[in-house]
Amino acid sequence: MQKTVQNLLSWYKKNKRPLPWRDTGNAYHVLLSEIMLQQTRIEAVKKYFERFITALPDMKALAECEENTLLKLWEGLGYYSRAKNLKKAAEKIMEWKFFPETKEELLRLPGIGEYTAGAVSSIAFGKKACAIDGNVLRVLSRFKGKDINKNEAEKFLLAHFPGEGENSSDYTQSWMELGETLCIPKGEVKCSICPLKEKCIARKKDMISLLPSPKEKKAKKILYYTVLLLEHNNTFAVEKRPAKGLLASLWQFPMLEGILTEEEIKNSAFFPPEVKIEKISFLYDTSHIFTHIKWEMHCYHLKIATPLPEFLWISKEEMDKKYSIPSAFRKVKNSACNSGEESVY
Ligand code: ADE
Repeated sequence: MQKTVQNLLSWYKKNKRPLPWRDTGNAYHVLLSEIMLQQTRIEAVKKYFERFITALPDMKALAECEENTLLKLWEGLGYYSRAKNLKKAAEKIMEWKFFPETKEELLRLPGIGEYTAGAVSSIAFGKKACAIDGNVLRVLSRFKGKDINKNEAEKFLLAHFPGEGENSSDYTQSWMELGETLCIPKGEVKCSICPLKEKCIARKKDMISLLPSPKEKKAKKILYYTVLLLEHNNTFAVEKRPAKGLLASLWQFPMLEGILTEEEIKNSAFFPPEVKIEKISFLYDTSHIFTHIKWEMHCYHLKIATPLPEFLWISKEEMDKKYSIPSAFRKVKNSACNSGEESVY
């Protein structure tokens, strides 16, 4: 097995992708990248990462930034609670006056779970700690020729650890890198150039496509909404979501429960009788998938003569630059931002 680990490490050294946070020795960069990578592919993360560290170059800047700035920087990445927890973690680190290096210490920070703590401890500080994500589980399941769980994976990785020091970072990242570049979920799995091919049981038994066994997907709850792009004098209505729950504290367009027709919208209690609707037109249906639920959204554009006071009315520029509007509303936001003096609808 020693030889197999050596093959893996040599392969990694030769083939690792140059990533902006990789081999920098900067723990802040490693922590930030690991949080971002939990929800988004590496290629997409790169630009968010660069923008983030330009605006907030170190832990102190993150700890002291305004929540609005943070959420705007996170816009498009989703799972905003991760950004908020990251800021809380930065505040704790500033309060402690040291960046925790061990997995146990890192686990005391808000929003840092087993995976992130292990990743930061080994990648940034060279400690003997594991980070097991879906990629690593897939590689190991195939290597061992059977489904394995996180505990089994951790035991295996610790048992074959190359020793503390610089190799720890490479060792942890090499498993991830293999899962992201060669031992990919489906499609063209690149076994012929895999550094583990000699010992891989799934390859020997022709079971690559069968492992890991597919998990039974829990059906998502579907919620139906009518979303209104309300326009008045070149400004658009937005409101802040509640401070707790899904997309907490982010901005959204007015939403009514259920799928409503134009007539139902006009006659709903949402519009007091004195509000004159100058124009209403259907935009499109769009949907957004969250972890446990799915939103189906039926969207309209309305021009109204009187602004409803319960909303904040913002310009296209403000929508673009100042307010964090989650990607669930990307299409509606783009419609607002593309709408010219003469309506495009
Ligand atoms: N996926 C998550 N973190 C990673 C890292 N540091 N290297 C490669 N893939 C990763």
